[in-house]
Amino acid sequence: MDNPKIGEIVGEPMLITVTKEHHVALARHIARVFCENTGLAHGVTFRVATCVSELATNLYFHTTGGGIITLAAVKRGDRNGVRMIAEDTGPGIADVDLAMEDGFSTKGGLGGGLPGVRRMTDEFEIASEVGVGTRVVAIVWRREEDAGRRFRTETAQI
Ligand SMILES: Nc1ncnc2c1ncn2[C@@H]1O[C@H](COP(=O)(O)OP(=O)(O)OP(=O)(O)O)[C@@H](O)[C@H]1O
Ligand SMILES: [Mg+2]
Repeated sequence: MDNPKIGEIVGEPMLITVTKEHHVALARHIARVFCENTGLAHGVTFRVATCVSELATNLYFHTTGGGIITLAAVKRGDRNGVRMIAEDTGPGIADVDLAMEDGFSTKGGLGGGLPGVRRMTDEFEIASEVGVGTRVVAIVWRREEDAGRRFRTETAQI
């Protein structure tokens, strides 16, 4: 697929179903392994795993039937990164701007999940409709400061 907005998807996307509480930890782990296998540096991996954990938590706590997270390695020009999509089929968010504010939570949470994901990612989009569902698309691009910062396991193999 070649979408000028995203760039090019490299390899096979990874789908993670989130319907149970323990799927949150599983989703974070899968995200980490996915990034490692894609050869991305520690900084990208950490940001993606943390965001996936927040998005999966929202799928578990705020939806009726859970949802799906799709990870894809993406390339735009000479930049590499990871795109994550979290989607569900309800109940939707009545006021998305409010939900994006730090400290807003309808479930007594910290209200830091969505704004945190926006801050930790380089591109972020959220669309939601009450009674229909919610879709969050975010991309983390490899940054200059990531260069050379690889996993200890990889370093140990050198
Ligand atoms: N997938 C979703 N479906 C429906 N509502 C959602 C979804 N994700 C988030 N929300 C709504 O947006 C609010 C803000 O989400 P956010 O992740 O920022 O905070 P939180 O989940 O309440 O708390 P925290 O993430 O800090 O534990 C939620 O309280 C909830 O009302
Ligand atoms: Mg949350």
